[in-house]
Parts: sequence; C-alpha cells; structure tokens
Amino acid sequence: MVAAAVRASAPGKVILFGEHAVVFGEPAVALAVDLWTVVSATPAGVNTIDHTTLDAALWPYLAAAVRAVAGLGPVDLHVESQIPMAVGLGSSAAVTVATLGALRHLQGAFDPPAIARLAFEVEHEVQGRASPIDTSTAAHGGAILVDRRRHRGFLWRIEKGDRRWNIHDLYAPDLTLVLGNTGVRAGTGALVAKVKQQVEADPIAQKAIRRIGEVTREGVEALMAGDLARVGRLMIEDHRLLNTLGVGHPMLDRLVEAALPHSYGAKLTGAGAGGNMVALSDDPEAAAKAIAAAGGETLTVRLSRQGVHVET
Ligand code: PMV
Repeated sequence: MVAAAVRASAPGKVILFGEHAVVFGEPAVALAVDLWTVVSATPAGVNTIDHTTLDAALWPYLAAAVRAVAGLGPVDLHVESQIPMAVGLGSSAAVTVATLGALRHLQGAFDPPAIARLAFEVEHEVQGRASPIDTSTAAHGGAILVDRRRHRGFLWRIEKGDRRWNIHDLYAPDLTLVLGNTGVRAGTGALVAKVKQQVEADPIAQKAIRRIGEVTREGVEALMAGDLARVGRLMIEDHRLLNTLGVGHPMLDRLVEAALPHSYGAKLTGAGAGGNMVALSDDPEAAAKAIAAAGGETLTVRLSRQGVHVET
C-alpha cells in the first residue's frame, strides 16, 4: 500500500512597517499575502526530496525542519512555490512553516503556535536571523504585529535567550498590494549587521530607529481605522527613514516614485538594498504599469487571511 501524502501550504509575506527597527525592540507589522508554498510529505524509508537524498547543503530549511520534528519516521518531500526567493517575501519562512505543518499533521499534532515556534528555531539555526516576524506571519496569516509589549489580539510569545517577542493578530481591511522587484539581491544578515554598526556609532541612526517605531504604532492605528490614506503617508515616511539607515537603493527609490501617483503610499519591504518595494494602491493596474515601466518586475497580491493549513 502507498502511504498517503499530506499537503501543507503556507503564505509569503510583506513587511508593511518596522523592518530593521524590530531588531532593536521596536514593533513591526507584516501582512501574509496570497502567494503560497505547498509542501507534500509522504512516509518513506529514508529522508528524501522527490525520492532523492535530502542533502542539507542544498535544502537547509527542509533538512532542519525534518530534524526539528522529533519522533517522526523518515519522509519523502515535494515542494512547489509561487514565492520568489531571496527578495524579502518570506520564501524561506513559508517553506519551513509548510514543511513543519505537513510533518506535524503526519504526527497528529498540527498546531500553528507550536509550528511558529519550531519554524523560528529552524530559521535561527539556518540563517541566525534576528526576528520571528516571517515565520509567525506564515503560521497565522492575516496582519501580524510583533512587539515587546503585549496588546489586544495577543497570539503567542517567542523567546530566544534574553529576547522575547509578543505576536499579535492585527485587524486590517482587505488590501491589494503591488510589489516591484528591483532584480537586485542583497543578504538580510549582512544588512542587519550593517545597521547595527551604524546604530551603535551614529545618533541620527538611533533617532531613525525610534521614529520607525512611532511610525509603526501610528500605522497600526491607521490600519485599524481603515484609514488607507494615512497608512500610505506613513509608508512613505518609513521608506525615507530606511534610506537614512543606509538600506535603500536607487532602484527602490525609482520604483517607489513611479508607484506614488497611483498609490496611497509605497516603500521598500524587508531587508532592503534591493529586493522588493510594496505599494498600497486603489488602482493596482496603473501602479503595476508604472512600476514595470520604471524597470521593476511586478506582482499584484492581496492580504491573505489564511496562514498554514493542510489540504485534505
Ligand atoms: O528580508 P526579510 O523580508 O526577511 O526581512 C528582514 C527584516 C529585518 O527586520 C531586516 C530583519 C528581521 O529579522 O526582522
């Protein structure tokens, strides 16, 4: 008899407010978007991917996720993804969360808070990353607020050493976002390290981090009030502050400028120095056209209310 496969899906994300500042304890807001990674897991004789040995050097997230789930026999994995890789859209978090979702379902223990915690550990092991925002957003879906403090909508807490993050479900209206990929790749780890150096040395950078925290808190209020015009103005300010921190790129500025006449606001999203920008627009077609004309590769996405789930 052939053992049944379990298919688990997890969404990508964009950071709407607070990237980089979140590393210094400020809040951040991420949105799950309707780009999906689907992982199928089937019990097997040894751990494989598409029936070939699961090589940890080629598949570090999958291998670490398999190791993180104790007490489960070997599996064969298969991955399909709509999320562009290494451009700040949460592809590694989604593949990690979807794999853990499938494995935990095979164990009869599918539980998004536990999956979020395990996925954070896996990302931490593989990339030493600084915050659990991507993995918790892929696990829960919707709009997620990460903060040191605990507020209404609290979902779960993630801890690592002496650091802790409270993860919250945030109300947000339906949103359409236009993404513009610069085609320039930059590593998150190196940028986080660069910002840390700058913040240690430069009071202007410290001030920018604190102001990003305020912008994020104001952004939360604006989202909850459904005030998209205010959300957009705050996105523009956040983009400017991220440029002050040195994580901008001329191509990001170019795509943001192109989107603005058709958008409430636009900014870089994720680690920066390349990767993607995001525009919040009431005319996504016009915004996408303008971004494409300026040289960006566009994707129009919607807020996904759904996080990790298993298709039966
Ligand atoms: O590159 P991304 O989308 O994974 O975002 C990185 C966000 C940072 O705040 C720069 C780092 C972090 O781990 O929060």
